[in-house]
Amino acid sequence: MPVTALVDAALDRSIVGGYTRIGSALRRRWWPADPEPGSLRGRRIVVTGATSGIGEAAASGLARLGATVHLLGRNPDKVGASAEALRRAQPDAEIEEEICDLADLDAVQAWALGLRDRVPALHGVLHNAGLMTPERTETAQGHEATLAVHVLAPHLMTALLLDPLRAAHGSSVVWMSSGGMYGARLHADDADDLEYRVGRYDAVQAYARTKRMQVVLADAWAQSLRAAGAGDVRVESMHPGWVATPGVSQHLPTFEKVTRPLLRGPADGADTAVWLLATRPMSRPGHFWHDRVQRPTTFGWERGHDPVAVAALIDYVEKATGEPIGVPSPTDRD
Ligand SMILES: NC(=O)c1ccc[n+]([C@@H]2O[C@H](COP(=O)([O-])OP(=O)(O)OC[C@H]3O[C@@H](n4cnc5c(N)ncnc54)[C@H](OP(=O)(O)O)[C@@H]3O)[C@@H](O)[C@H]2O)c1
Repeated sequence: MPVTALVDAALDRSIVGGYTRIGSALRRRWWPADPEPGSLRGRRIVVTGATSGIGEAAASGLARLGATVHLLGRNPDKVGASAEALRRAQPDAEIEEEICDLADLDAVQAWALGLRDRVPALHGVLHNAGLMTPERTETAQGHEATLAVHVLAPHLMTALLLDPLRAAHGSSVVWMSSGGMYGARLHADDADDLEYRVGRYDAVQAYARTKRMQVVLADAWAQSLRAAGAGDVRVESMHPGWVATPGVSQHLPTFEKVTRPLLRGPADGADTAVWLLATRPMSRPGHFWHDRVQRPTTFGWERGHDPVAVAALIDYVEKATGEPIGVPSPTDRD
């Protein structure tokens, strides 16, 4: 193993060394090359949660590479302001404004079907929108909010946009997870209560568990599409490290205060997403990335995912959204 790979892995396991700006500052000396300038010209990419932090920075990075970027947010004023700021910074940028509250699955369905009619081909989706709710909160359809926004909405969107993603003949779907998912394994015992209807709701745990679900689902999507001969649509998940964003200041003020000098900037947090969407590297099962390198989805001393828990999650998500993972069979849409 090259020395850089050893140093890289050591940074990763040290957490602070890898997740902070120290990690990216060191790794950029050896990580894979930047995307070619203009490499996304003529390509169309949706970024959710594009009104703040990492999503806003990703949209800017993708536009800089020439992509037409669809900025998706739930608040029209915020979407308008982010689009305006991007157009001011990059007058040639091609920006489309998209309004959708991802907590509302009916809205997600309506928006995705609308986009499917508007665009013949879609080259990428960055499922970046995220939140932490201090109390258990229910959405219009009665789902726990972090489950809806982190898991159900991105799954539904991916399923409904599969046709334009396939029509691009080379597209990528990237789920923005979190390193916090390492601390939240999926247990078969939790399978009956993925919405915290019975068990005690803990905001940090609910956040981390849905971030784990994102990694598991992205892997399932990638493997299912590949098995169906639709591997032209790549699916990856990633974590951005620890990044100074409005979300962190709002939801984790103490963490932000303690780590402030070491936090990454939003563009640094968005780097791997932009790189994955622009370069579409081949990846192995797991499909989980950080700082342009594929990473394990569980640490070596743990066993892999519990297959019973994974199957239960997939079953739950498919039933809750009415959409299967992967290419639907003719009977799926009956
Ligand atoms: N910052 C970090 O250190 C860190 C670490 C690990 C993972 N992440 C992940 O990175 C992603 C971005 O986080 P961030 O730190 O940039 O957070 P942020 O500044 O709070 O941005 C979150 C974005 O998600 C949007 N959003 C939330 N709920 C939504 C909904 N129901 N419908 C549509 N959009 C919604 C927000 O829209 P509004 O502006 O309308 O609220 C905002 O644009 C998240 O998935 C987060 O879990 C961040």
